[in-house]
Amino acid sequence: MVSKKIRTQAVAAGIAVLALGLTACSSGDDNTAEPGSTSSDGGAASGDAISVGFSQVGAESGWRAANTKSIQDTLTKDAGFDLKFSDAQQKQENQIQAIRSYIAQGVQYIAFSPVVETGWDAVLQEAKAANIPVILTDRAVDTADKSLYVTFIGSDFVEEGKRIGEWVNDNVATEPINVVELQGTTGSAPAIDRKQGFEDATKDNANVKIIASQTGDFTRDGGKKVMEGFLQANPDIDLVYAHNDDMALGAIEAIEAAGKVPGKDIKIVSIDGVKDGMTALSEGKINYIVECNPLLGPDLAKIIKTLHDGGTVEPRIVTQDGAFDQEQAKAALPDRQY
Ligand code: AHR
Repeated sequence: MVSKKIRTQAVAAGIAVLALGLTACSSGDDNTAEPGSTSSDGGAASGDAISVGFSQVGAESGWRAANTKSIQDTLTKDAGFDLKFSDAQQKQENQIQAIRSYIAQGVQYIAFSPVVETGWDAVLQEAKAANIPVILTDRAVDTADKSLYVTFIGSDFVEEGKRIGEWVNDNVATEPINVVELQGTTGSAPAIDRKQGFEDATKDNANVKIIASQTGDFTRDGGKKVMEGFLQANPDIDLVYAHNDDMALGAIEAIEAAGKVPGKDIKIVSIDGVKDGMTALSEGKINYIVECNPLLGPDLAKIIKTLHDGGTVEPRIVTQDGAFDQEQAKAALPDRQY
């Protein structure tokens, strides 16, 4: 699996890594598609604007909203881009359709965050045949052919799950605990990897027992509904591992409706670090959050400009993520951007 192989290349994190991963070159325009592409409003692409088609997963979470804003705020006309943006509403067929439409329009670059890991080879081969470089943002694809995309920029999801598991080992599972897991979208890279990372970190701790695991599709409603079912079926839940903050927030609603105290009667750990999640953490309703940085717009813009100038980029660029306990969340909240 290519994404897993790439992850084993230990790349340091963050913007610093991106800077190292970009090699500028003063000549060459090999990645530029033929002229005549149209802008999102139907007019001709203005001047030297770089046309980029971006297919977003959807609007399922606070994280996704922050990620969309970061991309739209960065790839602006003023910054030299002609951005065509589409929301796939969590459906792979919509993303494939959007990518085909970008190819037909002759955009110069395609970027997308794949809703699931598999099933992309055919459409990515079409982009390659059209000479359009593809950049994966946020989520990986599972393909044997690494030439189908130029780079994958985003967090290390296995590491995120591992950090959650290590915190649970040290802070909660010093005695036997029953864990329920709210998984992200089935088949998506973050759901697969965060599950694996948590299991890797806790597999040698006999105190950790995962008694139920189900997808809440990364949404607040999904997290709430699945948690309601967990609570009805299992009277002795000690800890919720939510693959993102939105599902943790839904779980809080379900736990409170069941007359229990989130963060105390049932502890909650999650991933993302969006403002609503950090607020619940600072209020004691969540116990620990590992951050997943959604602000990928500036790095995406740098990658495209580098390619456009004839430079090269590393095949895997890992973004930097923090982690917060309740006191750290209180300190970080006033400056939180998303
Ligand atoms: O791919 C990143 C994940 O997708 C975020 O953790 C989640 O909130 C989003 O929906």
